[in-house]
Amino acid sequence: MQKKIMLLGSGELGKEFVISVKRLGQYVIAVDSYHDAPAQQVADAREVINMLDGAELDRIVAKHQPDIIVPEIEAIRTERFYDYETQGIQVVPSAKAANFTMNRRAIRDLAARELGLRTANYRYAGTLEALQAAVEAVGMPCVVKPLMSSSGKGQSVIRSAADIETAWNYAQHGKRGDQVEVIVEAFVHFTSEITLLTVTQQQGPTLFCLPIGHRQERGDYQESWQPAAVPVDQLAEAQDMAAKVTQALGGAGIFGVEFFLAPEGVYFSELSPRPHDTGMVTLAGTQNLSEFDLHARAVLGLPIAAITHERNGASAVILADREGSEPVFTGVAEVLSQPNADIRLFGKPTTRPYRRMGVVLTYDKPDADVEAIKARAIALARLVKVEPSK
Ligand SMILES: Nc1ncnc2c1ncn2[C@@H]1O[C@H](COP(=O)(O)OP(=O)(O)O)[C@@H](O)[C@H]1O
Ligand SMILES: [Mg+2]
Repeated sequence: MQKKIMLLGSGELGKEFVISVKRLGQYVIAVDSYHDAPAQQVADAREVINMLDGAELDRIVAKHQPDIIVPEIEAIRTERFYDYETQGIQVVPSAKAANFTMNRRAIRDLAARELGLRTANYRYAGTLEALQAAVEAVGMPCVVKPLMSSSGKGQSVIRSAADIETAWNYAQHGKRGDQVEVIVEAFVHFTSEITLLTVTQQQGPTLFCLPIGHRQERGDYQESWQPAAVPVDQLAEAQDMAAKVTQALGGAGIFGVEFFLAPEGVYFSELSPRPHDTGMVTLAGTQNLSEFDLHARAVLGLPIAAITHERNGASAVILADREGSEPVFTGVAEVLSQPNADIRLFGKPTTRPYRRMGVVLTYDKPDADVEAIKARAIALARLVKVEPSK
């Protein structure tokens, strides 16, 4: 039966999700704060609102009466979701999951205090003085992050006492909304970090994708690859933590659960209750179902017989380098002239420095060398240049 799905946030991840649910015959209203956002270009209807404004959210929910609300970003007045759930609307994966991850505090306290998962030692601070005390408590080096922020915005590392005030000011400039509080985390000297895509289902067991490795720069991922080499005991530990935290949040859908792998063990870092940017590697056909197809099935309550490993793959981002609009891409044909390579261009109407505009995908057989596949993705992504035409 056709469902009316309201997608809140219409970026590149939302766009692939819309394509997945459209293939299953669903109706989608794509919402964002600007016109012609990627997912709006492939949806049935669109709305442009400020999603942090609860009254605006209420208005479009009343107007469209969706069966399902699918958040694609964190910056939403998620407190409203509990009401929508009471009204009988399915919130994905659950109102609690979306609300607990809107802000770093609820999810971190749930993971560390309630569930007892290993996380970096942490404190909160609402003033510069409190930050000084918090740094003392967790030790240096440590990482400061605004409680509400994403993509590394406002995030910095304190290595000596001289960095504390700079870190505080940087966090205040990079935060989203008016919440001044920050989290201070002990710096984890990890050997690698992974995303474990975890699917919870309305009926059926929780499923895990093979781990995805990734490299972050300026708070955004640059390359991701699947599978990441993870010792079996560490993978089991990560799966166990992912199962616990997703169960506590409830509902059905895909979660991107982030972990640090360190000599002393596996650390839970954070989680997105939705497809994860590093999971775009699954668009390279690494699995029988991409993370977007998996999300679509989980959300619609359709069965997932199994997640199978089909190829090894990598993704590398294509970034803009300046402000502008109506971007033109060069080098696309060179990428596509290579075997086992593909590309996604998101269709974002405007550019700014480091804005992610597309992704190159490379792949090979399921026993092929992942490092070589990753190196190819990086080299091919470098061939693509983004030129704003205005
Ligand atoms: N406590 C930490 N120790 C070491 N590196 C960290 C720590 N916290 C974050 N990082 C690095 O910064 C990246 C972004 O941090 P994260 O908490 O995931 O924020 P965001 O919500 O912006 O993705 C991580 O993927 C990791 O590379
Ligand atoms: Mg992250």
